[in-house]
Amino acid sequence: MGRPNIAANFMSPTMYGSLPKALSSEERLSISRNTPMSASLREVQNRTPAKVSAPTRAGRALRRSLLKGCVIVIVVAGYSGKRFIYERAHELGVRVVIIDGPDSWAKTLVGEKVIEKFYPVDFTDEAAIFDKCLVRIKQAEAELGQVDGICSFWEAAQALVASLAERQGLLAHPPAAVENAREKQNTRSCMKAAGLPTPANHLIKSGADVKRAAEVVGFPAVIKPISGAASEGVVRVDSLEQLVKVYERESKKIKAKAIDSNTTTLDDKTAEQERARGRAELTFMMEQYLDGPEVDVDVLLNSDGDVVYGNVTDNWPTIEPYFNETGSNCPSILSLQQQRELCQLSVAAVKCMGFVVGNFHVECKYTSSNGPQLIEVNARMGGGPVYAMNQFVWGVDLVEEQFLGCCGIPSRPYLSKTPQKCIAEFSINAQKTGTLQNVDWVDKFQDDLHVVYARSIVEEGAKVVCVEDGLPTWVAELMVWDADVNKAIAHVLDIEKDIQENIVIT
Ligand SMILES: Nc1ncnc2c1ncn2[C@@H]1O[C@H](COP(=O)(O)OP(=O)(O)O)[C@@H](O)[C@H]1O
Ligand SMILES: [Mg+2]
Repeated sequence: MGRPNIAANFMSPTMYGSLPKALSSEERLSISRNTPMSASLREVQNRTPAKVSAPTRAGRALRRSLLKGCVIVIVVAGYSGKRFIYERAHELGVRVVIIDGPDSWAKTLVGEKVIEKFYPVDFTDEAAIFDKCLVRIKQAEAELGQVDGICSFWEAAQALVASLAERQGLLAHPPAAVENAREKQNTRSCMKAAGLPTPANHLIKSGADVKRAAEVVGFPAVIKPISGAASEGVVRVDSLEQLVKVYERESKKIKAKAIDSNTTTLDDKTAEQERARGRAELTFMMEQYLDGPEVDVDVLLNSDGDVVYGNVTDNWPTIEPYFNETGSNCPSILSLQQQRELCQLSVAAVKCMGFVVGNFHVECKYTSSNGPQLIEVNARMGGGPVYAMNQFVWGVDLVEEQFLGCCGIPSRPYLSKTPQKCIAEFSINAQKTGTLQNVDWVDKFQDDLHVVYARSIVEEGAKVVCVEDGLPTWVAELMVWDADVNKAIAHVLDIEKDIQENIVIT
């Protein structure tokens, strides 16, 4: 096989500009009048509402039976670590169609009988992506019957999903709400307009804006790309001098780098082409530094706007000035009052941005002087360990709830009243820059019954970076469980210490 055509596989930020405008309420009404009700919705309407929505084992069994056989189109599969989502869909009897770039790893899922169809869409011609996806959705209907839902677990595809679902008369996020979540300054404006706490912030579109931003926001502060992800380009700055330096360095880095849907770093030549096409988003936002413990709040809203689930996970301090994730634990060890306030703020944030239903991964801090504050709303299930943590601790299957929600079946997770297991997980950051010489340091933890996983995520011989030289490289990931959350935390930290002692980087 030759080198994949990256442009064809790469969904770029400039694609957002080519999506059709959000429909008017009349247009939406006309679509919903002319769209036959999906099979899943018909089934829901035929049942007693209280039974379909019951947060009980029997309610869950009924919802699962309604979900079985539903046709769900997933737009962009994401990287191969998201495979478990499609396997879970298969277990639930969901008939999945994936639309993705022609070289996506996910195409093999058809042969493996995990999904029903894989439809390639060439992402090169951005103006045509929306229409090409619509054609594929029609094809799915012709081949598999009516489509019950559209969704994606991939951040960059959320706007496209919103537009496609709106056009098809299917339940999904409103396009404007997705935009409010994606653009960090829109998020801040929505919060402010709703009278919710908003840290001082200012956009930096070019070097000329730096001084004014510093005056408006003050120090300490962070700068971040307005539509970034995975903390890339997010850096703490403590003075104007630092801000000037960091802004220059980070904007250069973004120009030199673009990431495709397989998170492949582009070579120089392709990066140059991507830059010329305006694929790299260069606007930064400077905002007041928020202190205090950071948390993730997983929120589920039912189709009637009810909050049906809220879970707080503590995020551990990062190695500043960067914000590369380190570890987390669930349930949270913050007080119940603090957790309640964090959940309330998260729900208010999601609602003020215009969302009505679905799965949200909200990031917040509990600050020392201003209580709970929002970092950002991700209008999708969180990545990495988030699925497993919610499942282990509360027995809530966020993938299943996402599928139910997008098919119009009530999302009412049947959750455990007390934590079933307590989880702590950790991503080990390299503590030295150089070449990784060994990966066998994980071996001895494989037989530990409390270890869910302990694995190296870079290969022997890989170049790794420590915090003194840039965003640190993750070298390994660990997850442990215990009946007591503090024990789980202590255990994971012991393993981390052991690994740091045995890792050889030269
Ligand atoms: N105003 C802030 N104050 C302190 N830390 C922040 C602030 N904004 C972001 N961070 C840190 O940076 C991380 C990434 O920022 P975020 O806005 O979530 O961007 P991304 O989209 O890259 O995830 C956050 O999880 C948090 O740790
Ligand atoms: Mg974030």
